[in-house]
Amino acid sequence: MNSHVAAQWSAWRQRLSALRNIPPVLGIVWASGPWIVTAGIALRIISALIPVAVMWVAKLIVDTLVATLASPGKPPEGIWMLVAIEFGLAGLGMTLGRMIDYLDARLADQFTLEISLRIMDHAAKLDLACFEDPAFYDKLERARVQATDRIGMLNGIGRLLQQTVTLASLSAGVIAFSPWLFAVLVVCVVPAFIGESHFAFLGYSLAHSLTPVRRELDYLRVLGTSREAAKEVKIFGLSGHLRERYAALTRDLIARNRQLLTRRLKWGSLLALLSSAGYYGAYAFLVLQTAQGRLTLGELTFLAGALAGSSSQIQNIFSTFSSIADQALFLTDLHEFFRVQPRIQSKVNALPAPRPIRDGFEFRDVCFHYPGSSRLVLNRLNFRIEPGERVAVVGENGQGKTTLVKLIARLYEPTSGAILLDGVDLREYSVEDLHREIGIIFQDFMRYDMTARANIAVGRIEDSANDALLWQAAFKSRADEIIARLPNEFEQMLGRRFEGGVDLSGGEWQKFALARAYLRDVQVLVLDEPTAALDAAAEYEVFRRFSELTRGRMAILISHRFSTVRMSDRIIVLEGGNIREQGTHHQLVARGGRYARLFEMQAANYR
Ligand SMILES: Nc1ncnc2c1ncn2[C@@H]1O[C@H](COP(=O)(O)OP(=O)(O)O)[C@@H](O)[C@H]1O
Ligand SMILES: [Mg+2]
Repeated sequence: MNSHVAAQWSAWRQRLSALRNIPPVLGIVWASGPWIVTAGIALRIISALIPVAVMWVAKLIVDTLVATLASPGKPPEGIWMLVAIEFGLAGLGMTLGRMIDYLDARLADQFTLEISLRIMDHAAKLDLACFEDPAFYDKLERARVQATDRIGMLNGIGRLLQQTVTLASLSAGVIAFSPWLFAVLVVCVVPAFIGESHFAFLGYSLAHSLTPVRRELDYLRVLGTSREAAKEVKIFGLSGHLRERYAALTRDLIARNRQLLTRRLKWGSLLALLSSAGYYGAYAFLVLQTAQGRLTLGELTFLAGALAGSSSQIQNIFSTFSSIADQALFLTDLHEFFRVQPRIQSKVNALPAPRPIRDGFEFRDVCFHYPGSSRLVLNRLNFRIEPGERVAVVGENGQGKTTLVKLIARLYEPTSGAILLDGVDLREYSVEDLHREIGIIFQDFMRYDMTARANIAVGRIEDSANDALLWQAAFKSRADEIIARLPNEFEQMLGRRFEGGVDLSGGEWQKFALARAYLRDVQVLVLDEPTAALDAAAEYEVFRRFSELTRGRMAILISHRFSTVRMSDRIIVLEGGNIREQGTHHQLVARGGRYARLFEMQAANYR
């Protein structure tokens, strides 16, 4: 067997094994609407039996007519009754079809809701590391698409059920007449089936391999049309370049797709022709039998109908099955997503976070590298933060300051070494509890496209109606002055996403982020260069408040501005993943080391 064939073969196995993805999804379908599912199945079975009933009645009509023609004068007995039944069956079929559509549409809504919620629930459990990993992000994107795109598969499964029952009833008729006839039909349809599924698989491989390209396309489109990018895109004259890149990527995409479509057209037509040949061969045999008087005209009508019906049903079943198998491959992404388990979880008997904190944090030989990279961001780091101490961390970009904060909040865990809180490893505490005690404003804090109220309340969502508390937090961060100026005050929609939203400056958004942290009654407050958007004077003011508000509390502040850093009790200079030097501002200046040099440089700028 050459390697190409072997590859195709393994692709086949992958395709078949993807069918295993279906039962769990059926579980979700069932959970999203047991009654709708039950009713849908019942109606489908009834409606599946209609074609054979229609054909049988047609046979009776033809035989009655033939008998009437054979002996003129004799009234066609019961023929009008038969016609009425035929009409009734057709009406019933139509009505059932519409009812099934109605149930399908309702089930689709329920299913979308159910699966979206499950995806959100699962995403909420996952580690931050997952979200910072592009490969995972692709997986999440694909899983999200499942929520709506796999509805076609559900309808497919319903159709498959109906087609199978119809086929069973029709072929029972054909088989009763001649099993060979039926066998001929099946043999003719198999090549068509293989072709169909093969191309469906190639389609999947193509779509899968193109996910990163599609993401880039989305990104380019967003860049070309977004408000955030508009300024730079204009100034740099980037739009032509973006357009070119977009067009080039898309052309490539189209070319690869066209190749597949062309091959599918050629082979698909050929194989379909083969199937027709099988049908007409069988039909010719039936005509011969009738001509020789071995079949009545009614029987010919019924068998020809059942044969044509079976033949098209077999093709339908194969192509429905093929599309289900194809879609089941997409479900692999969904299952992979659900299989990703968070590593950072509370232990079974997790301790509650200490309140008050008595001993503070201790880093013991902490090493850390990000997953998928071997470069140590923190390298055997040792230091303590005492309760009530306000520590500033300084260091150039990329020295690991933000990483340090992520580790304290257990958004990541040390690769080796340990972080202790009150002498106990952080991993022993309940994660949720720990997060309740730590308030962090990250460098890239969120700007929620929500009301001013919500922008503060997300800090402690259960208090979103407690105006007094919200105002207090706003006062502490000076967001109160901004709110007072907003047309709708607390209820003002912020951001540009929704109609009537008011956009704020970076510094103003900042204050909302600060208010969120102040709203939480935390024991440890962390500001990670949150003031990049502020001018020196505003930053000084923010930190002065921060410093007042955190008196007696533990605080970590990360900043490049020495005017603010010097307000802290102790300064840690981080370099190359380790502590270069530490001490108070005066000690460090007196020492004449790295800090003193950086301080001099910055001070010189202001002279
Ligand atoms: N999610 C991540 N995955 C991989 N590397 C990262 C990630 N976040 C940060 N890094 C890398 O870790 C180093 C330290 O980053 P960071 O802690 O953000 O530095 P700082 O806050 O001091 O500027 C940098 O080299 C950065 O490129
Ligand atoms: Mg940082």
